[in-house]
Amino acid sequence: MAIEKTLVLIKPDGFKRGLTGLVIDRLDQAGLELVAAKMVSVTEALAKEHYRELADKPFFPNLIRYIRGEFHSLAHQQVLALVYQGEGAIALTRKVAGATNPEQADPHSIRGSFGRVTTQGQFENVLHASGNAADAEREVKLWFKPEEIIGGAPAVAPNEGLSGRSPGANGKR
Ligand code: TYD
Repeated sequence: MAIEKTLVLIKPDGFKRGLTGLVIDRLDQAGLELVAAKMVSVTEALAKEHYRELADKPFFPNLIRYIRGEFHSLAHQQVLALVYQGEGAIALTRKVAGATNPEQADPHSIRGSFGRVTTQGQFENVLHASGNAADAEREVKLWFKPEEIIGGAPAVAPNEGLSGRSPGANGKR
C-alpha cells in the first residue's frame, strides 16, 4: 500500500469539548505519523474553499458557520489542523474518525463516541478527515505550506547552510 498524507481538522466542537488529545492519541495508536500541526482561525474564504464540493447542499451555509466556530464560544473559534502520514493513511484515518453522521458511525469510532446531531440537524462530528486521495492532496496544499510539513521542503535551502553560505553583500566570506 502507498504511503499517503491526509488532512485532519479538529473542529470547534472537538476543541471545545477537550477532545484534542483523544483524537491525536487514537491516530497515534493507529500507527499514523504526525507530520504537521497548527492552530487556524478559519476565514470564510478558507472554509468555502475547503468545502467547495458541497456548495450546492442545503446544509452548506451552516457547515461554514460550524467549521468557523460560530456555533461555539468565542474562545473556540479555531481548528487544529494536522497532517498525518502512513501506509493507507487516508482510509485508516476515516476508519478511526467514523461515518459522517455520528448517529450512524461505529460506536467505537471518534464520531460514534463523541459526535452528535444537534436539534437543528447540524452534524457536530468532532473532526474532518480527507475523503480520498484527490481531496487529501488538495486539502493538505490548501491548509499547509510545504515547509510547514516535516519532509515537505527544506527549512533552509541547502546552499544556505553554514558550510555552503554564499558570499555576503560586501563579497567577503
Ligand atoms: P462530507 O464531506 O459529506 O462528509 P465527511 O466530513 O465525512 O467527509 O460532509 C462534510 C461535513 O458536512 C460533515 O462532516 C458534516 C456536514 N454535514 C451535515 O451537516 N449534514 C449532512 O447531511 C452531511 C452529509 C454533512
